[in-house]
Amino acid sequence: MRMYDLIMKKRNGDTLSKEEIEFMVNGFTRGEIPDYQMSAMMMAVYFQGMNEEETLYLTMAMAHSGDMLDLSGISGVKVDKHSTGGVGDKTSLALTPMVAACGVKVAKMSGRGLGHTGGTIDKLESFPGFSTEIDEQTFLDNVNRIGMAIMGQTADLAPADKKLYALRDVTATVDNMSLIASSIMSKKLASGADAIVLDVKTGSGAFMKKEADAFALAQEMTKLGNNAGRKTYAVISDMDQPLGAAVGNALEVKEAIDTLQGHGPKDFTELCLTLGSYMLLAAGAANTCEEAREQLIQAVERGDALAKFAEFVEAQGGDKTVVFHPEKLPRAAIAEEILSEQEGYVSHIQCDEIGICSLILGGGRETKDSEIDLSVGLLLRKKKGDFVKKGECLAVIYANDREKLEIAKKRFLKAYTITKEMGEIPPFIKGVILPQS
Ligand code: URA
Repeated sequence: MRMYDLIMKKRNGDTLSKEEIEFMVNGFTRGEIPDYQMSAMMMAVYFQGMNEEETLYLTMAMAHSGDMLDLSGISGVKVDKHSTGGVGDKTSLALTPMVAACGVKVAKMSGRGLGHTGGTIDKLESFPGFSTEIDEQTFLDNVNRIGMAIMGQTADLAPADKKLYALRDVTATVDNMSLIASSIMSKKLASGADAIVLDVKTGSGAFMKKEADAFALAQEMTKLGNNAGRKTYAVISDMDQPLGAAVGNALEVKEAIDTLQGHGPKDFTELCLTLGSYMLLAAGAANTCEEAREQLIQAVERGDALAKFAEFVEAQGGDKTVVFHPEKLPRAAIAEEILSEQEGYVSHIQCDEIGICSLILGGGRETKDSEIDLSVGLLLRKKKGDFVKKGECLAVIYANDREKLEIAKKRFLKAYTITKEMGEIPPFIKGVILPQS
């Protein structure tokens, strides 16, 4: 088999076989197929597409290109959740203990933030001593013992995807549905969970700006998961404005704690309850969504979800007293209100710009080796549909550097559109794709 022939085949619009896709993925992972040939193949795929079978073969080949995590040592159904990423997305922090408090095991691999979106691991590092660099045995033991663990993604998990994604990133071949779906699902399949709940975001802060694209991606990923023998659900949710009010690592941890105490923002609480319901259903811990939702609400009201979070923080080396005293979280030196320059309704928020404001303040990473400032960020006081008077507070900005604060503030004000009319507020949960649909 020659890579040259496979590139020509795809370029001409023909279908690649399972053996050809495995040859290509394995050869590329081992370094036998050079980047320039793989780049040409990715561009051919970009223009010609891949059918359902080809996408599944690609996903499986990438999933098997490194370690496949074996979770069989954990009793019961193991459920994972994945978000396609957004601004203020602290969902794993609140959702995982809520679900674990209902008796469902969550073994989660998470990443760090890059660009305008934040990462769960960075947020968790707001707890002094906390580590996600735990070994596989500790990870399994913790899930068995307390029902949850969150671990940093290891280098050996789907290495083909890691290499291929880096190449796609510099060859303008990221935004192809088959390539995105196989990239995300290869990592999820290698992570070993029995069931997966996907949170597919859409809007100005999401990867998929258009709702129709988010639905198509969700369909593609659920099909891949279910065809690979994992019960997979997808929830399509709004990312046309930041999730909740907090954007920035320690601020988001505080908001997750508030939510675990039952007084989190409405949209964020709704997302946790929706995703959590499908996680409970997937694990067979509830028979209906309503029943699952009630279990999650009870876990919060009884204080079990917050206690589970504290148990988890402690099990991974963190200071659990911070969970009950969030005032001990990292705090920025400056807190300043951003005042509205106009009167009217907030009709649009350019969501990715809010993520970039946090990045400018030092809360995100521009390259994978950047140091981040856990204390900085923004707390939104007004969101879409809210009425604001001239001079009223739109958000509080937290910074450690006056110059960065001024740059971020200017950008923040430009990201808000304030109009006389209220405009339409689209639904927050846009749809759900069930395993059989
Ligand atoms: N996230 C991934 O992991 N892969 C993609 O291709 C796009 C987003």
